[in-house]
Amino acid sequence: MKPMSRLRGWLRGKQPTLPSTAAYALWAANYPPHAHNPLMELEQRAVSALLPPLTALWCSIWRGTGRYGLLAQERGAGQIISLDNSPAMLERNPLTGRVCATSEALPLPTQSVDVLLCGLALGHLPGVTLSI
Ligand SMILES: C[S@@+](CC[C@H](N)C(=O)[O-])C[C@H]1O[C@@H](n2cnc3c(N)ncnc32)[C@H](O)[C@@H]1O
Repeated sequence: MKPMSRLRGWLRGKQPTLPSTAAYALWAANYPPHAHNPLMELEQRAVSALLPPLTALWCSIWRGTGRYGLLAQERGAGQIISLDNSPAMLERNPLTGRVCATSEALPLPTQSVDVLLCGLALGHLPGVTLSI
């Protein structure tokens, strides 16, 4: 189906909405670990300006293919934990410390990380409150 027909169908509610793990399994191969569109460039510039020194333990939740993990590494982060519920996205992630888990049940003890970064992912979880 042509992209415009798919878009029209989706706008008319005829395209199924995939669960995020199924959607990211399709997307992962084309999701490089760096900002790859103008929105991401803008978001990354704003987030980078807000980051504290990263020599502490670092946890990047919903890390996907590693964009913020690599940035944290460049900035000297002590330990990076990459957590995502998509095996396909984690497979593309070049760093170690990958954990496949859902944010609804974080496998991290309370107060076990110093910095937590959730890049472009809270929209997947409108009802979730994070507490670490
Ligand atoms: C738009 S991508 C952002 C990836 C990366 N944080 C970045 O900024 O480049 C959203 C990520 O959130 C992950 N995700 C969605 N729902 C999740 C959940 N319930 N638990 C953990 N990860 C989830 C997806 O698998 C995907 O990797």
